Amino acid sequence: MSTQHLIPAHAHPLSQILENGYCVLDNFISPAAVLALAAEIDHLNQGDIMQAAKTGRASTKLQVSLRGDSIHWLDETHASEAQLAYFNQMEGLRCQLNQQLYLGLHSLECHLALYPIGSAYPKHLDRFQINGDSHLAQRQISCILYLNQDWLAQDGGYLRLHLNADGIAKLGVAHLDIAPIAGRLLVFLSDSFYHEVLPTHRARMSLTAWFLNRQSH
Ligand code: OGA
Ligand code: MN
Repeated sequence: MSTQHLIPAHAHPLSQILENGYCVLDNFISPAAVLALAAEIDHLNQGDIMQAAKTGRASTKLQVSLRGDSIHWLDETHASEAQLAYFNQMEGLRCQLNQQLYLGLHSLECHLALYPIGSAYPKHLDRFQINGDSHLAQRQISCILYLNQDWLAQDGGYLRLHLNADGIAKLGVAHLDIAPIAGRLLVFLSDSFYHEVLPTHRARMSLTAWFLNRQSH
């Protein structure tokens, strides 16, 4: 299912978050910055610097094996030029979300991710269950930027966004399959949308970020 037909092009992206809880922003950063970030992943991968991703707080071996990507956390204080371009855009997005939707987003945590051929990430929610420890920073908004040139339908690797009851009633489908094409940013409420990465038939690169409701420690 292509999202193009389901998300009206004229609607303001941020009002779509307010209304539906998610939106897709194409061409979020320049093509040159997308290429540079993809090259950074290649470089980190060749240098064996990417780390196996873990799920949740108390990760088990089972969970590690379910999640097939490897990641590299970014630090804004040691950012490359392309990362700075990205952080600037994200800061603009954070301010807009706060001004228009009163979300109180505070800081950002983000990592590059590489899904090797044949890997996937099963259905999950991004907000951790924090047993009532409400002073801890929580993930409010998930933002995934895709870095894959010339992605084809047969490459798979779709991000399957499972809709809530409202979305299902509105669109008449249970989920949207979003292609991970270069420059596309998917934004959604972290505690409201189950999602998964379908098996990818090509190495798949992304930069995943979460806006937090306060500074993390
Ligand atoms: C995640 C995630 C999806 C993607 O890292 O939590 O859901 O498309 N990533 O990379
Ligand atoms: Mn996720």
